[in-house]
Amino acid sequence: MQKPVIAEKAPKALTLEPGTYYWCACGKSKNQPFCDGSHQGSEFTPLPFNIEEKKEVWLCQCKHSNNKPFCDGTHRKL
Ligand code: FES
Ligand code: FES
Repeated sequence: MQKPVIAEKAPKALTLEPGTYYWCACGKSKNQPFCDGSHQGSEFTPLPFNIEEKKEVWLCQCKHSNNKPFCDGTHRKL
């Protein structure tokens, strides 16, 4: 099992409009925290998630959260 790249040891706070988003699981995207296709050729695939109503979210960028795509504080232990 490949390990994801740690894009950053901190979450990204974003206010998202309703819609479907694709969170980068591999850590290689240049458009963190979202997938830009850089996972191709690896065993990683992006994680889709839905936002039902406009809200602020804290998205994991260390890629080790146990509550992906959201930050759960795991980045502090890396
Ligand atoms: Fe990381 Fe697509 S670029 S999952
Ligand atoms: Fe990954 Fe916080 S940034 S758990």
